[in-house]
Amino acid sequence: MLSKITTLVATAALSTMLVTGSALAAPVTIKFSHVVAENTPKGQMANKFKDLVAERLAGKVQVEVFPNSQLFGDNKVLEAMLLGDVQMAAPALSKFSRYTKKLQIFDLPFLFKDMTVAEKFQSSDKGHELLASLQKKGLVGLGYLHNGMKQLSSSKPLKVPADAKGLKFRIMSSDVLAAQFKAVGATPLKKPFSEVFTLLQTKAIDGQENTWSNIYSKKFFEVQPYITESNHGVLDYMVVTSKEFWMSLDKDLQAEVKKALDEAIIFGNGIAAKKALDDRQKIIDSKRSKLIELSDAERSQWVEAMKPVWEEFEKEIGKDMVDAAYKSNM
Ligand code: SIN
Repeated sequence: MLSKITTLVATAALSTMLVTGSALAAPVTIKFSHVVAENTPKGQMANKFKDLVAERLAGKVQVEVFPNSQLFGDNKVLEAMLLGDVQMAAPALSKFSRYTKKLQIFDLPFLFKDMTVAEKFQSSDKGHELLASLQKKGLVGLGYLHNGMKQLSSSKPLKVPADAKGLKFRIMSSDVLAAQFKAVGATPLKKPFSEVFTLLQTKAIDGQENTWSNIYSKKFFEVQPYITESNHGVLDYMVVTSKEFWMSLDKDLQAEVKKALDEAIIFGNGIAAKKALDDRQKIIDSKRSKLIELSDAERSQWVEAMKPVWEEFEKEIGKDMVDAAYKSNM
């Protein structure tokens, strides 16, 4: 008798929920995967996004952040996104070449004088055009995120390009970066970020290029006796999602998620420059790695050796793009 009543009550409740549509829907989960430490511009931006969503969209959307390549490395994350295994990521712009050749522009050595120039270009029409360049591949570019300018770390002092000759450098998966190191007679090796520390520690490679915050947070400075302040390139990100996931969100919800993301990006971009300065200083103070500052004449030698790479990739990227980016320096 009791079980009959229970069944009747449950059936009534179910039909009420079906009629009123009041069944509690599970919140949409956004898994955000990245490869860097939490105490970096990207790590902090992702956590801020999670907090904003928790504050404003509780019960509707939840963000789970997976730092330090815990879920996917950058070389796998976009594939996983297209399969629906992860909903957001912010790979370095150097890691999109399987999807578009256009973003290679950000790897051209010495194209952007500093981060304000990169920012100016990203906010221009051409920058927006690049943000949309992944659409055909099923990915939606939601915004650019800064890290900073790249420096060269090495097992030997690098003052002029000839010092890099014969050395092995880890690079991100970019043909432009490979050409950049070949241009100075070095050997580039494309390896995931998660392997860099061990490769340096075991001396399987001699050096790598990265930003102050990545060199500090991943402790590369502890296993690299020299860092040349070359500022030779930009390391920035694109926050991306899959078209399928993005379009599956109800329009209002999509707008609210985008608003929280935009605010988190502004927050991340706001701390990037200071983070670079602070982490640079912490590395200097540690005395584990010697900072090499270049004279104008030495720097010019690097520019002269690496700049021919622009011409090599101009066709794939588009001359109009390269010209527009170059003009952002003025
Ligand atoms: C990152 O900043 O996301 C990783 C950069 C790298 O692979 O060197």
